[in-house]
Amino acid sequence: MALGAGRVAKALAAAASRGLGNGEDDALRIVRTGSRGAFWLEPLLEVETPAGRIAYGPVQPEDVPGLLAAGLLKGGAHRLRLGPVESIPYIRNQERLTCGRLGVVDPGSLDDYRRHHGYRGLEAALQMPPASACELVKESGLRGRGGAAFPTGIKWRTVHDAVAPQKYVVCNADEGDSGTFSDRLLMEGDPFCLIEGMTIAALAVGATRGTIYLRCEYPHAQAALATALAAAYENGLLGTDVRGSGRAFDLELRLGAGAYICGEETSLLESLEGRRGQVRFKPPLPALSGLFGAPTLVNNVVTFATVPAILERGARWYREYGLGRSRGSLPIQLAGNIARGGLVEKAFGVTLRELLYDYGGGSRSGRPIRAVQVGGPLGAYWPESKFDTPVDYEAFAQAGGMLGHGGIVAFDDSVDLAAQARYAMEFCAIESCGKCTPCRIGSTRGVEVIDRLRAGERPAMQEALLRDLCNTMTHGSLCALGGLTPLPVLSALDHFPGDFASMAPVAAARS
Ligand SMILES: Cc1cc2nc3c(=O)[nH]c(=O)nc-3n(C[C@H](O)[C@H](O)[C@H](O)COP(=O)(O)O)c2cc1C
Ligand code: SF4
Repeated sequence: MALGAGRVAKALAAAASRGLGNGEDDALRIVRTGSRGAFWLEPLLEVETPAGRIAYGPVQPEDVPGLLAAGLLKGGAHRLRLGPVESIPYIRNQERLTCGRLGVVDPGSLDDYRRHHGYRGLEAALQMPPASACELVKESGLRGRGGAAFPTGIKWRTVHDAVAPQKYVVCNADEGDSGTFSDRLLMEGDPFCLIEGMTIAALAVGATRGTIYLRCEYPHAQAALATALAAAYENGLLGTDVRGSGRAFDLELRLGAGAYICGEETSLLESLEGRRGQVRFKPPLPALSGLFGAPTLVNNVVTFATVPAILERGARWYREYGLGRSRGSLPIQLAGNIARGGLVEKAFGVTLRELLYDYGGGSRSGRPIRAVQVGGPLGAYWPESKFDTPVDYEAFAQAGGMLGHGGIVAFDDSVDLAAQARYAMEFCAIESCGKCTPCRIGSTRGVEVIDRLRAGERPAMQEALLRDLCNTMTHGSLCALGGLTPLPVLSALDHFPGDFASMAPVAAARS
């Protein structure tokens, strides 16, 4: 959309209304799909031909007349022709277990969704007792894709076992991490998949009401979800009698105002209840006492969207992909200074280097990649020596980082890691919910200490102070915002100490 897909569609429609000639006037039907996630090829135009879908890109509105003249509708030759879309290596080499319909289906068409295996997972779920669905998800090895990687089936089972007159399922669609957009692409390109996943979850845990908590900065996702929700209700896939099962599930869409902390599940629940997003103490776990005090299942968009395929194809199919305790696949997002940014869904085990170079094509600036930050604003900054780490929750933790929601932000050799460390502390100070002292006060003091360190003001003492402060934040913060902010700060300090060397005379810095 940002690169002009809307204008290309308009140019095509305008050309069609003027008449295409050659008896092709009826041959053109324009379908607006979501993105395949190969952003450097966008706007990507795909033409359905008897030989499969032929891709052209990146297409601009002024290319349209030439494309039509070259026989676009039959997949004709043109300098923008990329060949069969499935043969583009970036797309062909992925394992799209969750995102397989992205860019393929019409997000507004329930029929199209059904033609591409849609609602087969729900059909399977309706054939088994709720506890078996929880067990299947557990056996698949699926872990939460929102960041904490908690085993999904165990969480489902906890809500299932809770006895209460009302239970809820809540989808965390706040997607606040820097460099992440897999939730957005899924909701924009395949909204029925999220709805199906949430319906399966609701039936499995015994919830009759659900909410998608969507950040307000996602208007296209909001529109796609609203259309899909209406279609699901109209077709009896939501409401009082889901798919004729006699079981009810009502699902609503709510917009968050855009605070990073509202992605933390307990703040999210506070926000849904109409209060300021502030972290709750745990226990009790939301699974036992969540929304309005009722047992509540909170999962990320990707987590829910992965469930229909697991129910349809089985736990073994899913767990055959992956590495160690990280089973299945992760939709990884390549962002920052990268030549071929976008969405790359791979089975766990692919290395950071493969992602950065084989898929990402190196930096966009053409200069060496000096550092990457994986896992959002609370992720570690890693130097080149760690690029062979496999994408695996345990391997990342062991190497001093975290995988989080799978966002990778690349930086070339012009990056100043001391400035990035300062930014991490500043981000925490701005986004802190204010509930606990180490985060609320510590982050502000952290910015000051880094400023003094960079100014060369008694640097050994400032570094000791910074490390001591980070230790307090790590161990004394109530949630992971304050608790993990030391990760980017200390990783920058440990791996790129030269960037923290004095930048200005002490007197000048003081004034
Ligand atoms: C500061 C902070 C921000 C978070 N932001 C998000 C977010 O934007 N989206 C998300 O799904 N999880 C986010 N989480 C994780 C959630 O608290 C929670 O673990 C997750 O929604 C559970 O779903 P999952 O098990 O499917 O991952 C955040 C956590 C913290 C501490
Ligand atoms: S660590 Fe920060 S965001 Fe988390 S509860 Fe404490 S003050 Fe709030």
